[in-house]
Amino acid sequence: MATETQQHAIDTMLLEERRYEAAPDFARQANAQPEIYERDWQEFWETEGRERVTWFEPFTELYEWNPPYAKWYLGGKLNVCFNCVDRHVEAGRGGQVAYYWEGEPEGERREIRFADLQRDVVRFANALKGLGVRKGTPVAIYMGMVPELPVAMLACTRLGAPHTVVFGGFSAESLADRMNDMECEVLITQDEGWRAGKTVPLKRNADEAVANASTVKKVVTLRRTGNDVPFDESRDVWWHEAVDGQSADAESCPCEPMDSEDLLYLLYTSGTTAKPKGIIHTTAGYLVGVAATHHYIFDVKPDSVYWCAADVGWVTGHSYIVYGPLCNGTTGVLYEGVPNYPNPERWWEIIERYKVDILYTAPTAIRSHMKWGPEHAQKHDLSSLRLLGSVGEPINPEAWVWYREHIGGDRTPVVDTWWQTETGMILITPLPGITTLKPGSATKPFPGVDAAVYSENGQTVGPGGGGYLVLKRPWPAMLRGIYKDDERYRETYWSKYEDVYFAGDGARVDEDGDFWLLGRVDDVMNVSGHRISTIEIESALVDHKKVAEAAVCGRKDERTGQAIVAYVTLKGGDEGSIDMLEELRNHVGTKIGPIAKPANIVFTPELPKTRSGKIMRRLLRDVAENRALGDTTTLADPTVVEEIKERAATEAPEE
Ligand code: WTA
Repeated sequence: MATETQQHAIDTMLLEERRYEAAPDFARQANAQPEIYERDWQEFWETEGRERVTWFEPFTELYEWNPPYAKWYLGGKLNVCFNCVDRHVEAGRGGQVAYYWEGEPEGERREIRFADLQRDVVRFANALKGLGVRKGTPVAIYMGMVPELPVAMLACTRLGAPHTVVFGGFSAESLADRMNDMECEVLITQDEGWRAGKTVPLKRNADEAVANASTVKKVVTLRRTGNDVPFDESRDVWWHEAVDGQSADAESCPCEPMDSEDLLYLLYTSGTTAKPKGIIHTTAGYLVGVAATHHYIFDVKPDSVYWCAADVGWVTGHSYIVYGPLCNGTTGVLYEGVPNYPNPERWWEIIERYKVDILYTAPTAIRSHMKWGPEHAQKHDLSSLRLLGSVGEPINPEAWVWYREHIGGDRTPVVDTWWQTETGMILITPLPGITTLKPGSATKPFPGVDAAVYSENGQTVGPGGGGYLVLKRPWPAMLRGIYKDDERYRETYWSKYEDVYFAGDGARVDEDGDFWLLGRVDDVMNVSGHRISTIEIESALVDHKKVAEAAVCGRKDERTGQAIVAYVTLKGGDEGSIDMLEELRNHVGTKIGPIAKPANIVFTPELPKTRSGKIMRRLLRDVAENRALGDTTTLADPTVVEEIKERAATEAPEE
């Protein structure tokens, strides 16, 4: 046992044996056919580069790799907005819907066709030009999920102005930090947003942020709710006034020819330490990467209605609501609000209304729906669905199976897609129609991607053993660095091992070569010398029929080094009891083994999550060890930890 622990950076114990073969009907019509895995990786990206996007000038060299910096499609010239909008209109597809937009207040709906999108983008780009935006002008965007958000992004790319989208749930301070780092000159926002039936004071926050961001000269504000907001005549412009009288003719604002490696956008990611990192994405490699993955992984067809239910403020929204789907000319759904407003049927209503065939969401949302119960989905006709996707966290096998059965009618493939803000595009994923699916496994590296699991000292870990996920060769959409911070870029991703990208996630590869993601390496626990990942214990807990969600962390323990503490949310608002606690401990004991039994279980109605829905185990560790809480600024709902602290204090430790 001891030698095994030395070899494996992480011990893995949970075995999931359910398998789902690809259905022959799906396989026949799938965009990805088995030969895709046989292709030479350079030939693959070369062909995707030539065929997936339209170039003003073709590239002359596929890639250049000066570790840790890559360049792709060198020598090419192209424009992202041209690829996402204009070329579809030119090809006669202007009448096709680009987005079905659904506002949060019931009954607010808009259909935006590609021709409408072009008109809106051109007018807004002309307006931005009037405000001094040119190729290279950094622009910040702080909005809710309104159609004008993709319009603003595309208008920037049309002009060659790099953007940073700041998620509308972030505070004035976070917005100011990002604008200062990027030295943004223009900020695009809206009066207010809608969230769970309440208004979000976007313009008010924006004003507070701009007061601390001296580079910002102009603020464009979209009227959304129509409520009164502060307005500074010398600096502020209303969106509707700015576009008033602007030409909608594409020729009035031609798409700027951009170099393949020109900056497309920065997206800030907070990570565990305070200062957010400005992740750099450039033009050509990013666009090819997101469009190719979107095409093959989601099996998108010309008549698909695709819905990625993320927020555009996260990388998932950038890559798989805006750039990938629009580049492929896909019809999508854009929904403004929360999944349970005005009730938990909202999503299923939307799927029924637009006959959505592809749904892409996060485990946290799936677990919320599990908690609310399958009856809401049952009231709706979801038979249009052909494919389901998951991203953002490891998905517990039970949530995976629930998703497939209750939402996918036990017929759709579920693609569990692993990637990061840094990777830009999906890297580990099943290909529907080819891959045998395993609940809880993201399965195989995407064609052209070389991933592995390394031990502490950089050896490849064999089948079954846990270790650290690394990427061994560059891929087109990879980050080009951290903005203005070369040292941190090298230190974060390239210092643990030489010449391979360290993702910061634990993983194991099984006998079939399938990858199982084990969560962030910071979350790994050490119990009596066993390095145990939190996800396995959480999944064993969620496997119990009464459990909706679980988060696990380690706390210091004199005897075992660390002891396992579990925070559990029960289904149907159940409060929990001592009997339940014993039952759950035993359940984990049978699923995994006695070593994995939580020393203590705290029942709680909610778990602390980041605004993008990831469980914050770091804060749970603080609670478990009775420490002052670390940075809580990225919490979606700060009251949740307070509640948990109280419950943790009243719960008698089990052993
Ligand atoms: C986690 C989101 C397991 C992982 C696109 C990664 C996942 C981090 C999965 C990146 C998955 C994302 N299975 N874990 N399918 N997808 N993660 O930057 O820890 O918001 O490093 O990008 O989410 O989060 P980010």
